[in-house]
Amino acid sequence: MDDLRPRPDELEPIETASMDELRGLQLDRLRTSVQHAYDNVAHYRDSFDAAGVHPDDVKSLDDLSKLPFTVKSDLRDNYPFGMFAVPRVEVSRIHASSGTTGRPTVVGYTRDDLETWATVMARSIRAAGGRRGHILHNAYGYGLFTGGLGAHAGAERLGCTVVPVSGGMTERQVQLIQDFRPDIIMVTPSYMLSVIDEMERQGIDPRSTSLKVGIFGAEPWTNDMRHEMEERLDMHAVDIYGLSEIIGPGVASECVETKDGLTVWEDHFFPEVVDSVTLQPVADGEEGELVFTSLTKQAMPIIRYRTRDLTRLLPGTARTMRRIEKITGRTDDMMILRGVNLFPTQIEELILQVRELSPHFQCVLSRSGNLDELTVLVEHREGVEGAGAVGGAELQRLVKNRIGVTVGVDVVTPGGIERSVGKMRRIVDNRPQR
Ligand code: DLL
Repeated sequence: MDDLRPRPDELEPIETASMDELRGLQLDRLRTSVQHAYDNVAHYRDSFDAAGVHPDDVKSLDDLSKLPFTVKSDLRDNYPFGMFAVPRVEVSRIHASSGTTGRPTVVGYTRDDLETWATVMARSIRAAGGRRGHILHNAYGYGLFTGGLGAHAGAERLGCTVVPVSGGMTERQVQLIQDFRPDIIMVTPSYMLSVIDEMERQGIDPRSTSLKVGIFGAEPWTNDMRHEMEERLDMHAVDIYGLSEIIGPGVASECVETKDGLTVWEDHFFPEVVDSVTLQPVADGEEGELVFTSLTKQAMPIIRYRTRDLTRLLPGTARTMRRIEKITGRTDDMMILRGVNLFPTQIEELILQVRELSPHFQCVLSRSGNLDELTVLVEHREGVEGAGAVGGAELQRLVKNRIGVTVGVDVVTPGGIERSVGKMRRIVDNRPQR
């Protein structure tokens, strides 16, 4: 694999600024942002007043913890444009996340917000090894989802030649990769696996393509999955994180030279990790729920947004800014089996240790009497037909030994599990509604 680390002179000055400089900038921006939210969004005025706090109380970065949290239902309650802090005519773009039930969550961007987004996305792609002149195959979905257009603008900003393929039509994805010879692919990790399968179906060796880097995000994936992708594709696999409420993709991104978690672009998004029960901030290094405050957003400033994503804050390595560890999962994706908490990422890690099993899997929850049960539905790899059952038994043993619970394992043939073209549905909940 090529050495794609950016030269120091290719970075923005803030990426290598001192911690003091960064903290000073953050405090200035935080105070302006909090004031902007309070002055222009009724929701923030009401919630600050109810909590007895005022923007003037924010005198240091630590004072942020005095402010109330914002949660997804606050955005839903203010549907569609009630969280906007600028007149609607100043809003250049709307995105929305579908959500499984009810109203979508709407977010808005001014022209300057789109600039900020393109800047952090370009920074993310460069951190992953992208350069001016690279051909970038963008298979994130275009539309209301932030993945496609967000990645697109960043890639253009960096000077890449963008191929705006969007998700789906897997045969055509493979054809375009063969014909256009892209250097970079941006796609969800689960859809990348489908693209690899399609290459193999067409008799193409995935290691033979022109791809040098895959920038994977929008859903949790593990370091074991990174090794699988890097091995099967002979390219770097790098993680990118973001959520529409904060800006979209490009809130945090991995650096290709370290691949040790995602650098949070802290000059625009201030991270905290809080204990998911007490909601008190925890020290860096401790696991909890990630919370973000936007520092520069105009159209929709967001204060202490509870992401529901679980991770830890770690000190900077390749950059000054702090990192987050790869996301374990969302609090909503935590399964509880006989008192033991577990996430689909833990299952993914174990599946990838079993030679006979492929990383196409789903966790199916059901109820027997009063007990929740989990069956892992997983495909065996091509060419191991007879040995699928052996792999299933091995997975069952690993889950019992490492996680401490008994699960069912149902090994199915390749193609037996639904494919997604974007985010994969990892949990199928068949438990009766209480
Ligand atoms: O998924 C934005 C995005 C697009 C990120 C493309 C990366 C690449 P939403 O649809 O609002 O936005 O979903 C956000 O997806 O709270 C996480 O639960 C999950 N997520 C996003 N990136 C990662 C990642 C986009 N790298 C929600 N690892 C977030 C784990 C991720 N989970």
